Amino acid sequence: MSGLPFDQRDGFIWYNGKVLPWNDGKIHIVNHGLHYGSCVFEGIRAYGGKPFLLNEHNERLIRSAQILDMTIPFDVPTINAACMEMLTANKLKDAYLRPVAWRGSEVMGIAGGNAPAHVAIAVWYWGKYFSEELLEKGISLKQSKWRKPAPDTAPTESKAAGLYMIGTLAKHEAEKAGYADALMLDYRGYVAESSGANLFIVKDGAIKTPIPDCFLNGLTRQTVMSLAKKAGFSIEEKRITLDELMVADEVFLTGTAAELTAVGKINDQTYTVGSVTRTLRDHYEALINA
Ligand SMILES: Cc1ncc(COP(=O)(O)O)c(C=O)c1O
Repeated sequence: MSGLPFDQRDGFIWYNGKVLPWNDGKIHIVNHGLHYGSCVFEGIRAYGGKPFLLNEHNERLIRSAQILDMTIPFDVPTINAACMEMLTANKLKDAYLRPVAWRGSEVMGIAGGNAPAHVAIAVWYWGKYFSEELLEKGISLKQSKWRKPAPDTAPTESKAAGLYMIGTLAKHEAEKAGYADALMLDYRGYVAESSGANLFIVKDGAIKTPIPDCFLNGLTRQTVMSLAKKAGFSIEEKRITLDELMVADEVFLTGTAAELTAVGKINDQTYTVGSVTRTLRDHYEALINA
């Protein structure tokens, strides 16, 4: 199943309020979302049939659309219920849910018009984001030439599909050089995040993470910060320089797809998967499986 292209799979998809056979989830080629990037989405993991932070993710979906000046014609409870319905219809308990909203084919041109956005929810099985072997020793990151743009250059608070263009380029660049993912700096040259997850460092037992002022303030990031506080760790949001990152004792990433992933190498610098990372990973796993 995992190797099949996504348009050739089985199951059901939620499309503008209707449950359709998976292969009927289609859009026309002349579509504003495709041509002009007017598209936002969410990524949610369900564990044992329970989507983690379902409401928070779907609230962010609505906010992301508002930031792109798009109106989603469904409220959060409706989208939440549709997510649950898709898990049941597709007989999945451990799954990845992908609510997505886009401007359709009503208008073509840079101005997007004011027709309500189209909304779909696809669900599929998605195992670990990185291989188990990499997870044990920590993944490798390569510093990218691509930087996270300033908040007055791109709508950086929105989980907008268009923002992933630089993530894809950065990840391709890293993978071609033999690394698992990219380290992205921000427009000022401070450490930002990886192509699809937030970043934390540990130095002398204290945890630090970049201020999310030009990239997503991830829900996993917020969850891990509160778990760290509860566990009694010192945790601080601050600007982090590349020099500071290079002398950190531990580095880890957080995100819905990546969960809590240790980093074992950045460029030529290696890191051990230390006790703070392991402790927080255990706390996070306990929470998602609760
Ligand atoms: C670029 C980027 N940063 C951070 C995150 C982490 O966000 P969250 O923890 O809400 O999944 C994601 C994943 O959604 C992402 O794609």
